[in-house]
Amino acid sequence: MAIRRKKSTPPRMKGKMFTKQDEKLPPIVELKNVHRTYEESAVPVKALRGVNLTVDRGEMVAIMGPSGSGKTSLLNIIGLLDNPDEGRVYYAGEDLDELKRRKIPMFRQKEVGMIFQQKNLIPTLTAFENVYMPFRYTRGKRSYKRQQVEEALRLVSMVDRKDHFPKQLSGGEKQRVAVARSLVMSPAVVLADEPTGELDSKTGDQVVKLMEHLNESTGQTFIIVTHNELVAEACHRVVQMKDGQIIETATSKKGAARSAAKAAVKRKQK
Ligand SMILES: Nc1ncnc2c1ncn2[C@@H]1O[C@H](COP(=O)(O)OP(=O)(O)OP(=O)(O)O)[C@@H](O)[C@H]1O
Ligand SMILES: [Mg+2]
Repeated sequence: MAIRRKKSTPPRMKGKMFTKQDEKLPPIVELKNVHRTYEESAVPVKALRGVNLTVDRGEMVAIMGPSGSGKTSLLNIIGLLDNPDEGRVYYAGEDLDELKRRKIPMFRQKEVGMIFQQKNLIPTLTAFENVYMPFRYTRGKRSYKRQQVEEALRLVSMVDRKDHFPKQLSGGEKQRVAVARSLVMSPAVVLADEPTGELDSKTGDQVVKLMEHLNESTGQTFIIVTHNELVAEACHRVVQMKDGQIIETATSKKGAARSAAKAAVKRKQK
């Protein structure tokens, strides 16, 4: 399964907040009654207890909540790194359970970009090689892939550090490389777990601005776990988690403008 992109919105297009095509397409991600209990630990932990979440194509959603509330567990399930014990996960309207197991790794690699809480750069590879990683097992011309890696590094202003190994980079620079790696295949959905967690406010601000810019210019969907109010403000919607459940959802000013644009498109269609 490949996620159908908007015809008028190839990865690097000029953005519109909401288009006619969006209206006809199913939500990009939908979770229905998702439960996850970790039985592996000495005492079972109910990390997710009936989560329902719908994310629109091109939406930018923040997930907030106290430590241990289930944010990373939720992101792992959305990112197809883990399976729910109960409940359903849909991508672009398709039930993931129906997607052949063997197709999932490729789907994840192509359509979902992840920025982890621990940056997970491979220490023995340079910044360039780390960003190249998602391409390793894909078909296509090497020169094209290298060009995409350069482009992703350029977006995060890391071209001049491309031959550095992770230990030769600052925390913020490593995070920018991780952002570049998550974006290199122009995935439909980017999932980020506290992308600004270890950054100073200036660098954090740059990373947020970058994600906001990509969301607006490419129509990519972002789901971002964060404790940072500035990140939340950059999103259309803020979802609050507590004890494995979503307890509140609030639309930001930006989200309200998006909804208004959506309503205007609907009115025109009538
Ligand atoms: N692999 C695991 N095995 C057992 N328990 C786990 C596992 N991973 C997470 N947990 C537990 O599940 C709960 C939710 O963890 P999760 O990592 O999703 O929280 P979080 O909201 O991301 O927290 P933080 O803000 O600290 O990153 C916690 O109580 C945690 O201890
Ligand atoms: Mg976490």
